[in-house]
Amino acid sequence: MTTNALESATRLIKEATDIVVFTGAGVSAESGISTFRDPATGALWSKFDPEKLVTMNGFDENPRLVWEWHDMLHEKVTVAEPNQAHKWIAELEKHADVTVVTQNVDDLHERAGSTKVVHLHGDLRARCTICSWREPKVTAWQARDLSLLPWCPECNAPARPNSTWFGELLPERAVIQAKEALGWCDLCLIVGTSAQVYPAAEMPMAVVKRGMPVISVNTRAEDHFFKSSVNLTGKAGEVLAGITLETS
Ligand code: OAD
Repeated sequence: MTTNALESATRLIKEATDIVVFTGAGVSAESGISTFRDPATGALWSKFDPEKLVTMNGFDENPRLVWEWHDMLHEKVTVAEPNQAHKWIAELEKHADVTVVTQNVDDLHERAGSTKVVHLHGDLRARCTICSWREPKVTAWQARDLSLLPWCPECNAPARPNSTWFGELLPERAVIQAKEALGWCDLCLIVGTSAQVYPAAEMPMAVVKRGMPVISVNTRAEDHFFKSSVNLTGKAGEVLAGITLETS
């Protein structure tokens, strides 16, 4: 990462009044949560078959396997703490109107203090496969009794994890909120995503099309958003901590 890039990013962030921080698994990697595709940070999809774990077909065939895998993720999230990147993003609210649009199902942005967080790929609650019931809050993984698979208390149908699986539409409300924020912001900061999963991956293009700047933060230079104005290569926690927003 060049000093120039860091200076440009700092200037763009200081000038912005409405910022969308668009995040992926990489923002939580320094909290010990595995990414899906980055070999340096777990690459879950090189060890597990997404077809079996995050599709409705997989759930129909083996709901126990799906629940056990999601509970494993849940356990990791429960013991994880927000890292420097989550905290810096939360602090950014002191300087601008910030909407976090995340592909992550963890709640580390919220626990760091971010107040406007849009989950494009859902979260770790349970929801009904038939009716509109959703668990009011995530049940602690320890509390799930997987000898009895989760059921909907409203209609007795099987419950499933409230994450968005391959082949499914994104949650409508989240899409509306994300599009509104991306259609209005004067800066988009993309942190820790390989931008390979659509339609989330193309959402920041709305910012580019309006001629607004995009900053990309990623450990892998080849994963920077292809239309970004400034690329900051390095770990999100370290890179963002290097951007000082205090005015002296
Ligand atoms: P990926 O695993 O595809 O990408 C993680 C990105 O984070 C990679 O580009 C890494 O280089 C980068 N990275 C790793 N550590 C980092 C760090 N400390 N700082 C900055 N960058 C870092 O994860 P996503 O792009 O989030 O969907 O994947 C998108 C979706 O694919 C997920 O939401 C999930 C998955 O299938 C569903 O489950 C529906």
